Amino acid sequence: MLCAIFTSVVEAQQSLNLMPLPEKVQAGNGRLVIDRTFSVSLAGHHEARLDRVVEIFLGQLRQQTGMPPIDMKVTDSASGTLVIQAAGGTKQVQELGEDESYKLDISDSGAKLKAPTTLGVMRGLETLLQLVRTSSDGFAVPAVSIEDSPRFSWRGLMIDAGRHFIPLDVLKRNLDGMAAVKLNVFHWHLSENQGFRIESKKFPKLQEMGSDGLYYTQNEVRDLIKYARERGIRVVPEFDMPGHSTAWFVGYPELASGPGPYQIERQWGVFDPAMDPTKEETYKFLDKFIGEMAGLFPDQFFHIGGDEVNGKEWDANPKIQSFMHVHGLKDNNDLQAYFNQRVQKIVAKHGKTMLGWDEILRPDLPKDIVIQSWRGPDSLAQAAKQGYRGLLSSGYYVDLMWSAERHYATEPQSGAAASLTPEEQKRILGGEACMWSEYVSPENVDSRIWPRTAAIAERLWSPQDVRDVNSMYQRMAVTSRWLDGLGLTHNSSYDPMLRRIAGTDNIAGLKALADVLEPVKDYTREETAPAPATSASPLNRVVDAVRPESATARQFTDAVNELVGGAAKPGVEARVRELLNRWRDNQVELQSQFEKSLLLKEVAPVSQSLSALGAAGLAALDYLDRSEPAPAAWVTAQLALVEQAKKAQAQLLIMVAPSVEKLVQASAGQPAPSSVPAK
Ligand code: ACM
Repeated sequence: MLCAIFTSVVEAQQSLNLMPLPEKVQAGNGRLVIDRTFSVSLAGHHEARLDRVVEIFLGQLRQQTGMPPIDMKVTDSASGTLVIQAAGGTKQVQELGEDESYKLDISDSGAKLKAPTTLGVMRGLETLLQLVRTSSDGFAVPAVSIEDSPRFSWRGLMIDAGRHFIPLDVLKRNLDGMAAVKLNVFHWHLSENQGFRIESKKFPKLQEMGSDGLYYTQNEVRDLIKYARERGIRVVPEFDMPGHSTAWFVGYPELASGPGPYQIERQWGVFDPAMDPTKEETYKFLDKFIGEMAGLFPDQFFHIGGDEVNGKEWDANPKIQSFMHVHGLKDNNDLQAYFNQRVQKIVAKHGKTMLGWDEILRPDLPKDIVIQSWRGPDSLAQAAKQGYRGLLSSGYYVDLMWSAERHYATEPQSGAAASLTPEEQKRILGGEACMWSEYVSPENVDSRIWPRTAAIAERLWSPQDVRDVNSMYQRMAVTSRWLDGLGLTHNSSYDPMLRRIAGTDNIAGLKALADVLEPVKDYTREETAPAPATSASPLNRVVDAVRPESATARQFTDAVNELVGGAAKPGVEARVRELLNRWRDNQVELQSQFEKSLLLKEVAPVSQSLSALGAAGLAALDYLDRSEPAPAAWVTAQLALVEQAKKAQAQLLIMVAPSVEKLVQASAGQPAPSSVPAK
């Protein structure tokens, strides 16, 4: 029976730790015990996909709660512990906008999951799994009633397999992560200057000459699509054209606008090679190729990229210049628009809807195409006003190493998009997190995607007014551990990487340092590289191991804000002092390791800076505790030191520097800034 209603949404959020947060949650009384007698009845519509969904669910439940002898099963009787009632099945090929809603009612005697479709069942089962708690007598889920449906119908994750090849097993575990946070589109970026990553039977030199042998066979692709479908995830392939396409030209230089020959690109950036939009042979090739891929990928949407064509090969080719003149194409944008129109007809001929990055937006394309915005919500709004559907990815680039908070604050219906008419707003389908892969390997890619992508998933699923950042962080930490259990390596790869860098099992000191560091943000890593990185550069530096967002630094910042604001709870100062002490003394512990490891040596100055910050913070606290203003000369010297510590070293940022600055300012009796600046 449902008796209590949470007094606030925040209370419900915090007690259940669900992510993404459901639309409506009501607490009940008691709990449903999960033990070996747990069984599932399928009472409603039944399709083969549903059996597989329940099998996956039971597998995860057994792993989480399994008590020997394990006996959780599907039962023929209508009185299973969990009764699943789907009103209908799903489409043969999962469609954009299929109903994903569900209702979940849990009481002390059983659970009922009702949904219009098998997709809704999947989403509800993920919620149920997130509710399982350990208890002294086993496991249980709290009595609760949930009604839930997504805010946006397109909630994606893009993984770039072009710049660095990402093996199939790594993709599969990331699909598990996506399903856990109710993401429903895997956007597979399959070709780049640095690699053509899929087998073509029609044009085998694409993969044979353009991939260094690192590509997916068509059987592997079918396998991945099946795996995704079982988890309610659509798979949208991207073949970037006419730019970002050097790898195509290694085997087929006749497609390009320059004289060739071409080699696989090894560096990062925007490069000159581009397809020749003026040759009929280009379109004949693309017709066959897109036809082949359209047969392999069942999804309705087909992504043609379209971004970042620098036009240099077009400018340098007299035949292309003369074509433009004859056809009245006044610049390279016109030429690319001509190319897009031709390609769109090919994509449509093969039964697909074209999707591309911002650059493809031109009023001459049919209105069914979809624009993916990497430039910002304003260009999304512009597309919507012109009648095009769009997705937001600007603000969701997880390779830029932003905080979860910053991604979480990125709202598809903001900026110019906030003032669209309701009709136009409907054209904003959702968004996608983007994992560009210049600096990721199978070892660290999960840590760049997770757990921050869970915050993006919540932005795209939950109601727009779900915005409590502290609650998000608290639930994201729980979600992160849940993702560990699914086999994601965002946490488990950290220690082995640090051990390898240090060349020793004793990494306590290195961890104390690494825990407060983050990689430089945005494209700074590119800009500050001592030598240009290439696709062969090993990703084994401290910058590759540290997390994109330091939880320790965030907690330290909160504690310092409490202290400086004069509202610190007991124990906060002791905790702050403990950390500062650790950082001050850590340098001594690490010194001998720096001398023994080349990979570690580059962070020696970072450790020295952190040590100085520790000492400065402690002294500042002493002044504050004595209510004695710190001497001006000391303050000036400390602030100079902090300024130095804020600068990137070894492409790393010390995330606690701004909070130490705050302590120093407070010790001088200076008014502190209202909060530590967001990173
Ligand atoms: C992009 O970031 N060029 C899509």
